[in-house]
Amino acid sequence: MEIKILSGKEVSDAVYSALKNRITTLKSKSITPGLAVVLVGEDPASQIYVRSKTRKFLNLGLYSETIQYSASITQDELIYKINELNNDGAFHGILVQLPLPNHIDGDMVINAIDPNKDVDGFHPYNLGCLASGKPIFIPCTPKGIMRIFDHYNITLSGKHVVVVGRSNIVGRPISILTSLKQANANGTTTICHSSTNNISYYTKQADIIILAIGSPEFLKGDDIKKGAIIIDVGINRVTDNSPKGYTLVGDGDYSSLNGKASAMTPVPGGVGPMTIAMLVENTVEAAERTLR
Ligand code: GUN
Repeated sequence: MEIKILSGKEVSDAVYSALKNRITTLKSKSITPGLAVVLVGEDPASQIYVRSKTRKFLNLGLYSETIQYSASITQDELIYKINELNNDGAFHGILVQLPLPNHIDGDMVINAIDPNKDVDGFHPYNLGCLASGKPIFIPCTPKGIMRIFDHYNITLSGKHVVVVGRSNIVGRPISILTSLKQANANGTTTICHSSTNNISYYTKQADIIILAIGSPEFLKGDDIKKGAIIIDVGINRVTDNSPKGYTLVGDGDYSSLNGKASAMTPVPGGVGPMTIAMLVENTVEAAERTLR
């Protein structure tokens, strides 16, 4: 079976095309959608993610500023800054890059973000709206996955969706989204996680598998049924002798899944570009909401 590559690049390009008019309309009203990115510490992966997010904003003629702090910042100082950003009209969205250092309670920091500027959709208010089926801001990676399903006409109704991973950023919200009672969802969703016995028992029954555990090449061809669709959220650095010193691989073992799965998102170029596209879309939405 030839595997179909579900290109996040292709879907994100369609998202940016659709956003053009909305951005032009906002600018005609002297509004430039603005995003504040708060980055704490020196985590190399976070620095790369933040740089690609801000670069995209600037390329699209949007405003973005990264506020960088050393890992020694206190929780109170960070929350003080969030409050300032809540009151700064230049920023329609605020994103605190996760993870934060251990001495900072990430929940307290996220709770300090004005829910109207919570373009990551991590604030309990927004998570509650999502869980009750009336989302406002949906976390970017899960929202991007749903957009991939829409773009490639992958229907979830009547399908068994198995999510591997239960993080607040991906696993839990995508399990809610895929099972919502609405036209483009209606899946039957199972969540597997670190305390699940025999994960392959579940993945072998899945029509659609969403991998979000951060374990390089975890899922093998033998773990799935023929024709399954794989959405791979993992971006894992595996050190090797290549010029960069590492290669990025997903949570799925592409070489053994190829030939067994019917479709799969690549790493890189799959879910990653969709996360950024949905961040842009949520920030444009946040800017539009200031006019209502
Ligand atoms: N860390 C990993 N993914 C994300 C994300 O989507 N948003 C934020 N804020 N931090 C992350």
